[in-house]
Amino acid sequence: MPHADSAMIPSGLDKPAFWEHVHEQLSYLLDGQRNWVTNLANASSLLYNSLLAFPEFGTGERMVNWCGFYLNSELFPAPQLTATAKAETQDDQPARLLLGPFCGKPACQLINVAPGRARGVCADAYCQRKTVLVQDVDAYPGHIACDGETKSEVVCPLLLTVNGEEKAIGVLDLDCLALSGFNEQDQAGLEKIAKLVVDACDW
Ligand code: SME
Repeated sequence: MPHADSAMIPSGLDKPAFWEHVHEQLSYLLDGQRNWVTNLANASSLLYNSLLAFPEFGTGERMVNWCGFYLNSELFPAPQLTATAKAETQDDQPARLLLGPFCGKPACQLINVAPGRARGVCADAYCQRKTVLVQDVDAYPGHIACDGETKSEVVCPLLLTVNGEEKAIGVLDLDCLALSGFNEQDQAGLEKIAKLVVDACDW
């Protein structure tokens, strides 16, 4: 099967079956590859295009408009910041997330997750190591608006266990043009996908 066909969605699936299908397709797509850039690129593309091929998310005002990853900046090769950006953040080594592989319109490059300075849905999901479901982004304190058209959002942390200790290494973020675009079924599906992605890569 051509790789692109893995984002085709059979008709008649309900939400749990949709997420199960995407999980299965992603496990095939990641098989044999351990590089996180490659795997997250394919994961964001598969997720985004599968969501767009699913009637609940693919059309009109309920469309998913962004799907991608932010990762702990320590995972990226240095240098990560220009001198100008360093001056703007007023910190040489702030704890931050950097934009990773995604599908959708351009988005913010950096998200501050330093204690006392963390702000936004991604930072909260990362710092609390818990999925954050936001029904109305305008009502969420600190929400970072990368796209003024986004109305709701779900962010799931990427959790890696090292020496028996669970730590966050990044987040998986989905945005929707409708209020209350995501529910607990989406959260459960996304958390399973986040685990599959983390387990499939060398970090
Ligand atoms: N809204 C996010 C920022 C990332 S964009 O949605 C792609 C936040 O508040 O953290």
